[in-house]
Amino acid sequence: MSEAGALSPDPLAGSAFLRACRGLPTERVPVWFMRQAGRSLPEYRAARGEGSILSAFADPELAAELTLQPVRRHEVDAAILFSDIVVPVAAIGFGVDVEQGRGPVVADPFRSEADLARLRPLEPEVDTAHVLETVRILVRELSPRGIPLIGFAGAPFTVASYLVEGGPSKTYVHTKALMRGDPGLWARLLDRLADLALASLRSQIAAGAAAVQLFDSWVGALAPADYHRSVLPFTRKVFEGLADLGVPTIHFGVDTGELLGLMAGAGNTVLGVDWRVPLDEARRRVGPGPALQGNLDPALCLAPWPVLADQTRQVLGQGGGIGHIFNLGHGVLPETDPDVLTRLVELVHSVPADSLAPTS
Ligand code: CP3
Repeated sequence: MSEAGALSPDPLAGSAFLRACRGLPTERVPVWFMRQAGRSLPEYRAARGEGSILSAFADPELAAELTLQPVRRHEVDAAILFSDIVVPVAAIGFGVDVEQGRGPVVADPFRSEADLARLRPLEPEVDTAHVLETVRILVRELSPRGIPLIGFAGAPFTVASYLVEGGPSKTYVHTKALMRGDPGLWARLLDRLADLALASLRSQIAAGAAAVQLFDSWVGALAPADYHRSVLPFTRKVFEGLADLGVPTIHFGVDTGELLGLMAGAGNTVLGVDWRVPLDEARRRVGPGPALQGNLDPALCLAPWPVLADQTRQVLGQGGGIGHIFNLGHGVLPETDPDVLTRLVELVHSVPADSLAPTS
């Protein structure tokens, strides 16, 4: 508990986003967008300048400004830290770079037992001091306005996929070959990546993040049996390691229709759903426990407004108005007109949550 918190009421207590994460009723369904910072914003391109994105993450004043831009512009209900899922592995010197328009690349991929030595434990206050300074700046700025900051990390599988493939992949061929071909080494790799994610998330929460999201963006490439045996134990280690901190935890992946039931049981409080499974069907698959986040197809932001508005109302109806955080089913596409996102937030906020049919 912070000193201020002990004396005055918590300004985040009324946050619709935090209430919805906990399954509590809200007047309006809260909304934010994955990848809301950067990408489609002209003010982002102006402020970011040239140079590696890793140096932008390492500049607390700049990273805080880039985090705040979409909050000012769209009046979303939560901010997401401007950072990346590869920041912790880069910070311990694994040798990761981020190529503009492509994503994380690793010159010397993880392929053998000897590579484990390149994954030492993270000391967040030393290795990622700049990230924590960004979090502190943001919390000072946002908390008095009642806006929570979402911290995040990459889940063990998705980070492993970059380290093993050496960059983005469509098939995850080396990752799957390692997972099935050398289960012992795979387990040691994922265990280290779970520890890195956990240390990073705990430090972000200690610095003031009010919720965290674990991105397992690419885990939908796996069959349920492989997910259950080779990934879930390590993802669960991350969520169980956060439980004592009492903040909402969001678990997200793309193309996870067949995995939703398993992912809901990883110890998270919120489950992210992509656009392929309607939220009422997702609810049937996962039961009454977790709040659901999602799930408008990001491509529809480029469709005519009436189409987008109609689909948004459908998503709201399928979400049932309680225990639902409105979001896209994946990140904002770079081609998106930011004014459409602003209008989308206005639309979501215009619908009283208690007018939305509860799912049964
Ligand atoms: O709202 C935000 O954008 C907040 C910051 C944020 C970034 N990356 C900044 C970034 C977040 C939440 C992420 C998460 C992330 N990074 C994920 C999970 C979310 C998802 O999309 O599934 C993944 C898989 C990555 C890995 C990554 N980093 C990719 C694939 C790319 C390249 C393509 C792209 O633009 O998304 C990056 C680079 C990156 N991360 C950029 C930004 C702003 C673009 C870099 C630039 O401007 O040069």
